[in-house]
Amino acid sequence: MSFEIMPIAGALGAEIRGIDVAGLDGEGMAEVRSALLRYGVICFRDQDLSPEGYLDFARQWGEVHLHPYLRGLDEFPEIIEIIREADDPTGFADHWHTDQIFTPRPANFTMLFARETPAAGGDTMFASLTGAYDRLSPGMQRMAARLRTCNSYDKKAPRSARMAARIADRETPTQEAVHPLVRLHPETGRPALYVSDERSTRRFDGMSEEESRPLLAWLMRHATRPELTCRIRWEPGTLGIWDNRSVLHSALNDYYGQRRVMHRITIRGEPVRGLAEQSH
Ligand code: SIN
Repeated sequence: MSFEIMPIAGALGAEIRGIDVAGLDGEGMAEVRSALLRYGVICFRDQDLSPEGYLDFARQWGEVHLHPYLRGLDEFPEIIEIIREADDPTGFADHWHTDQIFTPRPANFTMLFARETPAAGGDTMFASLTGAYDRLSPGMQRMAARLRTCNSYDKKAPRSARMAARIADRETPTQEAVHPLVRLHPETGRPALYVSDERSTRRFDGMSEEESRPLLAWLMRHATRPELTCRIRWEPGTLGIWDNRSVLHSALNDYYGQRRVMHRITIRGEPVRGLAEQSH
């Protein structure tokens, strides 16, 4: 199948040109999937997708699943509508994270379809977790491979009233999910530093938050250095897909006074396998 891949930045990210995703078949899908595994995040412009067509496309990536805490659209519960109204200063997902690290089987892939975008701003930033692992010193790599993180979902984090209303039962705390800090990507075999910021990754297993915080903060600074990042500028009809096993993301909240509407679907993942477990 012929299409063009235009890298967005040195560390990760590519725009794919010449594809209408609604018409992708088995062979085309395999090529697009291998582009995603290589670049970590890809996007397609000018896509025309109804909610049904979007779901059909998403199902080719694996099992579409429901977010454990956030309710989707009434007619399409698998699609989460992320809305920021023009007069609402509160962002959503405007911090560095990898999706659903707070569950035992975090999402493999996330896709985001732009329905309404601000004239300027509202980009999403991405950072390479495989690049972050590769750039650790050998001593830090060895230590990191022995650590595990405890992760939870902050139901009460600041969110727009509209998004907060879609979280059921805000008073009940969520369960913690424990994962290896260095995960082995099941498809590429590459190790990645698997961590999110303090809203999700609370501490190391067996340590207090206070003990864990300095190293977690350093790891996040390391993983989000500008040279490990890229950004997607959205326009209506842009479809982005990223691999949560190797990429962090953060939505920029820099468009006060304008509306942004995105439709998100996530694809179920597998239990996280650590680098330290590879010989078992
Ligand atoms: C998300 O993290 O789920 C959404 C990112 C965005 O809205 O750009």
